[in-house]
Amino acid sequence: MSEKTKVLESVKFFKKEFPEFKPDALLVLGSGLGEPVQSLSPIMTIRYDQIPNFPESTVIGHSGSLCFCQVKKLKLAVLNGRAHAYEGYSPGEVVRPVRVMKLLGAGSLILTNAAGSLNPLFNCGSIMSIADHINLTGENPLVGQNYEEWGPMFPDMSRVYCPELISIAQAAGLKLGIALKSGVYVGIKGPSLETPAETRAFRMMGGDAIGMSTVLEVIAARHMGMRILGLSCLTNQNLPDCMAETSHEEILKVACSINKNLTKLLLEILNNLEPE
Ligand code: HPA
Repeated sequence: MSEKTKVLESVKFFKKEFPEFKPDALLVLGSGLGEPVQSLSPIMTIRYDQIPNFPESTVIGHSGSLCFCQVKKLKLAVLNGRAHAYEGYSPGEVVRPVRVMKLLGAGSLILTNAAGSLNPLFNCGSIMSIADHINLTGENPLVGQNYEEWGPMFPDMSRVYCPELISIAQAAGLKLGIALKSGVYVGIKGPSLETPAETRAFRMMGGDAIGMSTVLEVIAARHMGMRILGLSCLTNQNLPDCMAETSHEEILKVACSINKNLTKLLLEILNNLEPE
């Protein structure tokens, strides 16, 4: 079955089972960052395994459910947990939920992730708005047959992250006293963490944060013309000259501690997001 058929099957499922569900925006919550959904008072929750062709996350810290929420006039879909390329999922599978939500109406995409800080000035526990990214996963969801009705074969990537959404996020941070950093996210496939030499190379390339998600979803979303905001929660410092041991458990622990600020920030951003 082609990727397009699988995406359209999921879309059909939603149109049949939830005809009222036409999201304006999509929020993706990353590893250990599921708490904001509770403050969004979901109207409905559905597990990924109940949705045709939705890839299930197999990693601890990802719950794997989709929620429908209403924030003022904004209809919001929330993906709590995502599939990663390091779990063995194909790029098409990783980005499938984003494509499905776009075809159901979502014009804006807010992605969150847990990331290591490559910038010595960006402390652990802070949140970085993604200004740009470097895709080092070695994968691309657009490889193969292009579906012109979804987007062009060679989408422009000169301005991927939406300046207007970044301004809304920065203003929200200022209002709440949460100083948002701004920087370049390096996306790797993982699942191994970086050696000191890799960390040094990624920093020299211009990276400020590094993680194992986001870039593939962003490429697919850009291809389909979505407005994109990316927020990286910096869970560990990843500095070549004072490399500290990092574990997934430690990353999840710090991610959990960032949930409070992330929740406040997201609520403020969503309150200022107009349905298109
Ligand atoms: N490297 C890669 N991915 C990550 C890191 C890191 O240091 N922290 C959280 N996700």
